[in-house]
Amino acid sequence: MREQIEAIAREAMEKLENVQDMKSLEEIRVLFLGKKGKLTGILKGMGALSAEERPVIGQLVNEVRKQLEDSITTNKNRLLQKEREERIAKETIDVTMPGTLLSRGRKHPLTQVLDEIKEVFIGMGYEIAEGPEVELDYYNFEALNIPKNHPSRDTQDSFYINENVVLRTQTSPVQIRVMEAKKPPIKIICPGRVYRSDQVDATHSPIFHQVEGLVVDKGVTMGDLIGTLQVFAKSLFGENTIIRLRPHHFPFTEPSAEVDVSCWACGGKGCRVCKNEGWIEILGAGMVHPKVLEVCGIDPKIYSGFAFGLGVERTAMGRFNIDDMRLLYENDMRFLKQF
Ligand code: DAH
Repeated sequence: MREQIEAIAREAMEKLENVQDMKSLEEIRVLFLGKKGKLTGILKGMGALSAEERPVIGQLVNEVRKQLEDSITTNKNRLLQKEREERIAKETIDVTMPGTLLSRGRKHPLTQVLDEIKEVFIGMGYEIAEGPEVELDYYNFEALNIPKNHPSRDTQDSFYINENVVLRTQTSPVQIRVMEAKKPPIKIICPGRVYRSDQVDATHSPIFHQVEGLVVDKGVTMGDLIGTLQVFAKSLFGENTIIRLRPHHFPFTEPSAEVDVSCWACGGKGCRVCKNEGWIEILGAGMVHPKVLEVCGIDPKIYSGFAFGLGVERTAMGRFNIDDMRLLYENDMRFLKQF
């Protein structure tokens, strides 16, 4: 029986030495160690042995089983490692293969115009300021000299969160926040999103963008305002552009003006773009109202300032000759690709 066991061991080890894949390895395991396996068969036949022989043969069988099990484990690890290496080799990327071309993006026309506006003002020494879009009624209206029941609130249909909190209808509240936070000289622009409860149409959207400007210092005059806006208009709409101020009323500026630029399409002669006016309105502006300086703790006897606010959508529509504001929000690539 001993020879038989040794023969089985030799046969098994030989097979194990040559095994090349996991499937054959499992077959070998079943063939020798499985329920009907060769070694298991020996154990079953041990009942026929004498009492002296039985423990000796039993021990031998156990030793051989242990040897086979160890070898199976070693081979299993070896084969797994081999499979992994083969898989990795197969996955190797050929970097010389031609790639899939990703189409290159570009800036949205609103962002382009905003960047141009920022560049002009940063060039004149302005800093960028920011304020919250969910704003207190106090900053959005009250401190800007627009008390409750003031008729000018009607022109800015607002989204109220509650009685005291509103989605800002203009970037002007940032003027107050900046003047509260630092003393003159102040020279900032504030680009940002604003909200009004307006129906969507070719010239209205409940969400749009403004850029606010504020300069406060000793001896700031209307002349400084006009000079600044002139530089701005020429940079954005071309060297030949001129501006015109029309008297207007804003509660937070005195005097106030609406500012037009000469039509970028016809140069002022009158055309379809300017509706034969020769002029296109682009922003509101004025000298900061003494009351507004006062609520921010700035003495209007010592300091003066100017402010302006312009619509980014309107400017972009002018700059790129876009006749429907909705196009700016629809994210249609066929439209956006043109700019
Ligand atoms: N906030 C005004 C609006 O949304 C625009 C404006 C007008 C801003 C005059 C100003 C200004 O700073 O001086 O209609």
